[in-house]
Amino acid sequence: MPDLVYEALAREFELAYHDSQIPPARAELLRAVAGIDGLITTLSDKVDTDLLDSAGDQLKIVANYAVGFDNIDLEAASSRNVFVSNTPDVLTQATAEFAVALMLSLLRRVTEGDRFVRRRESWIWAPTFMIGSGVQGRTLGVVGFGRIGKEVARLAARLGMRVIYAGVSSDRSSEHECVPLQHLLAEADVVSLHCLLSPETHHLIGKDELKAMRRNSVLINTARGPVVDEEALIDALREGVIAGAALDVYEHEPHVGDALLELENVILTPHLASATQATRDAMGMLCVDALTCVLLEHRVPPNVLNPSAASFG
Ligand code: GLV
Ligand code: GLV
Repeated sequence: MPDLVYEALAREFELAYHDSQIPPARAELLRAVAGIDGLITTLSDKVDTDLLDSAGDQLKIVANYAVGFDNIDLEAASSRNVFVSNTPDVLTQATAEFAVALMLSLLRRVTEGDRFVRRRESWIWAPTFMIGSGVQGRTLGVVGFGRIGKEVARLAARLGMRVIYAGVSSDRSSEHECVPLQHLLAEADVVSLHCLLSPETHHLIGKDELKAMRRNSVLINTARGPVVDEEALIDALREGVIAGAALDVYEHEPHVGDALLELENVILTPHLASATQATRDAMGMLCVDALTCVLLEHRVPPNVLNPSAASFG
């Protein structure tokens, strides 16, 4: 945890703290939560009925140190009067920038070029050497048009891209065109995923969807791994069904299979999209705020996902 966040927590609360990059084993986590009043989780901590039961009735708040909350059974938490909060807004810019960074790196072959130089391959500037493609005038398809998707659209438009999107948007005034997913897949040169993971979006991009994409198009995933059928993606990349992919998230995270490592037309990063100091500090402070609100001030916290889970006298 960033120092700023740890210090803010330590000032207000008695802490039990798992101080390691490696997540606790499930049994260890279930033991550690017994008797706690509030819990800060990351996306690798599964919050389900077992965990809630292990914690006990006094648990009032689970603050997820992430904007995505597919690791949490929201219904189970609500039925036990436990608030759940997440960390929206503060990571929108960082995450959108990262998606754009992946897109540009992939299309202009930045990481591929870097590997080439490091291998000490011989090269000289030449008009036809390692040609990539620019983004100007090309079409970006944004799947999931929430806060992050909209910011990616704004940045891409500044780069001269045409933007279309699929998914629900509260923002009817958007200057970009909303299209059905099939239409987006058929038109976009770059497909970038920004939806939540839910039963509806699990394997949203599978064999048929990849086939519907253009042969020279690429897929960017900074959302959640299981939104993409990773086996189908590997096949599509091997067979040239699409031209490339940039992945920050994986179906069986943190496991990344050998098949992906062997592909040149792929960029692989370890779930870094929100990883700037300012953003991680701000996300952590939102978790501290949520705990403070519920446990010390007895009011419904901001960024709560289930505001009617409990009430205060
Ligand atoms: C990270 O993936 C997050 O959901 O914040
Ligand atoms: C390339 O380096 C150029 O000068 O065009």
